[in-house]
Amino acid sequence: MKYRTIGTNPKTRREVSVLALGTMHFGTATGEAASFAILDRYVQAGGTFIDTADNYAFWTGTQGGESEELLGRWRRSRGVGEEIVIATKLGARPLAPGTSYTDNAEGLSAKVIRESSEHSRDRLGVARLDLLYAHIEDPKVPLGETVDAFAALVAEGTVGLLGVSNHWAWRVERARSLAAAAGLPGYEVLQYQHSYLRPRTDLPGSHSPDGMSGMLGGDLLSYLRAEPQLAMVTYSPLLKGGYVRQDRLDAAEFAEYRHPGTPARLAALAEVAKDAGATVNQVVLAWLIGGEVPMIPLVGASSVAQLDESLAAVDLELTTAQRTRLDAAW
Ligand SMILES: NC(=O)c1ccc[n+]([C@@H]2O[C@H](COP(=O)([O-])OP(=O)(O)OC[C@H]3O[C@@H](n4cnc5c(N)ncnc54)[C@H](OP(=O)(O)O)[C@@H]3O)[C@@H](O)[C@H]2O)c1
Repeated sequence: MKYRTIGTNPKTRREVSVLALGTMHFGTATGEAASFAILDRYVQAGGTFIDTADNYAFWTGTQGGESEELLGRWRRSRGVGEEIVIATKLGARPLAPGTSYTDNAEGLSAKVIRESSEHSRDRLGVARLDLLYAHIEDPKVPLGETVDAFAALVAEGTVGLLGVSNHWAWRVERARSLAAAAGLPGYEVLQYQHSYLRPRTDLPGSHSPDGMSGMLGGDLLSYLRAEPQLAMVTYSPLLKGGYVRQDRLDAAEFAEYRHPGTPARLAALAEVAKDAGATVNQVVLAWLIGGEVPMIPLVGASSVAQLDESLAAVDLELTTAQRTRLDAAW
């Protein structure tokens, strides 16, 4: 395993593995035994960066919490402590079962930030959340209220690092500016959807009619180059199996990849995978980890075999020629 630091403050920054493990289906679609086996294997391989949210898995008809609860049981049964960083998110938990973050989200008010972070701590069985993200934007709450409420949790020691997901770049920068001006801790870890295939970003998204605020685009990339102390965690890096299963890539949720650049990118990927003696999934992950702006891919897995394939990507170093071939395709 390889490691890198997230955060800058010596009191809260953490060393984490360069490959993060997502648990959004753990405790629902992926049962307890399989979830525990995947988590155990990840830790055995040196993995130290696990991701969940307070709304996983609300799409099963609940408000969520099953993933955090499973992680709480796993932590207790394995005696997991400080060595593993567990990140969670709040703001997108639906207020009633059967509803969604798109129409009925808890949001980012001071009250929600306080109460939902307490519930996450209870479900995970921890005194302090290592990393807490704002899961989605809440345009109804003044940004200053959200910034102050997150900072208060850091000040009292119930949260370590702060992160942000699925926000437009300008709102990330505005929130960080407000925090800096007030001498408060701001968002230091960003979580966005990003992979090797290039998405169209002009299609209306589930969060905004203006486009897909959850996609890593040029505005955020240039922000990361300018602020290299920020960490970028990229979700759905394997496009939910789309690189190896055409039906997944053809699903309506991936409409943004239906454009003439995609076949060229897939051809380059297949060529480099053959050249490197690796799988296409591994090439995608190695491309993300070792790029000019390094990313922390956040993979999902429903079996130990899938996780093993992703773990092996950490040791795959792409040559300059292979990287050039990949970058030149569009
Ligand atoms: N911030 C956000 O809004 C947000 C949004 C989405 C996700 N996330 C986080 O990101 C994590 C990962 O998301 P993701 O699951 O979409 O990531 P992903 O790594 O793109 O997809 C993982 C899925 O790909 C399939 N897969 C992986 N390896 C495969 C292989 N070798 N052959 C065939 N299929 C393979 C599996 O699907 P099957 O299980 O069906 O086989 C697996 O569950 C989540 O758990 C969550 O923590 C965050």
